[in-house]
Amino acid sequence: MMQRDAGRTVNATLVLALVLTLAQWLATPPAFAQVSSPMRGAIAIPDANAASPVMKQNTDRTQLGRAYRQQPPLIPHNIEKYQISLKVNQCMACHDWPNNVREGAPKISETHYIDRDGVALDHVARTRWFCNQCHVPQVAAQPLVENQFKSATEVK
Ligand code: HEC
Ligand code: HEC
Repeated sequence: MMQRDAGRTVNATLVLALVLTLAQWLATPPAFAQVSSPMRGAIAIPDANAASPVMKQNTDRTQLGRAYRQQPPLIPHNIEKYQISLKVNQCMACHDWPNNVREGAPKISETHYIDRDGVALDHVARTRWFCNQCHVPQVAAQPLVENQFKSATEVK
């Protein structure tokens, strides 16, 4: 009997201590709130930011360097109007052989004609259908956060 009561008192003290710790933790603002401002800027949670400006895509038309050997090359032209859907892939009008010869465009890599079982096909493999999953156009945007990225040749 005595022992059970003692057990209850210990339990109650423990619960009280936990509640107090939690209350104190909730009352202290987390450290990160003080050191950095959020990317969305000083905008209250329920308010919406103004839409960011639409950037003009790079249209240099010259090959952009690769940061490492296996990098999918970046797209040096505008792709806003080229549709890729389940049935249509307008990139292939210029980048598939033999169209690429007429268009003076680089042919998609031979790897793009090999399916996931290693079978060489006469058309682009389905695994490569959505080009912009790997190839991306460029815009002259400021980096969102500072970074010290170095290309594979720079770290050699
Ligand atoms: C009207 C023809 C045309 C269409 C359509 C087209 N491209 Fe291109 N693309 C080119 C040409 C030409 C080049 C070579 C550079 C240049 O002259 O712009 C090129 C270059 C590229 C390169 C760079 C290759 C390298 O080795 O550096 C990539 C990647 C690329 N295009 C991807 C795409 C993707 C993805 C699409 C569809 C969203 C697309 N292109 C649609 C004509 C086209
Ligand atoms: C899963 C990622 C992926 C997808 C999807 C993909 N590519 Fe690539 N592509 C690459 C990589 C990686 C390379 C460079 C290595 C290589 O040649 O395989 C490349 C190379 C290229 C090249 C340069 C070829 C050369 O010989 O210099 C062109 C052009 C290209 N891709 C166009 C396309 C087009 C157009 C599509 C859509 C039909 C497409 N790619 C889909 C990853 C991809």
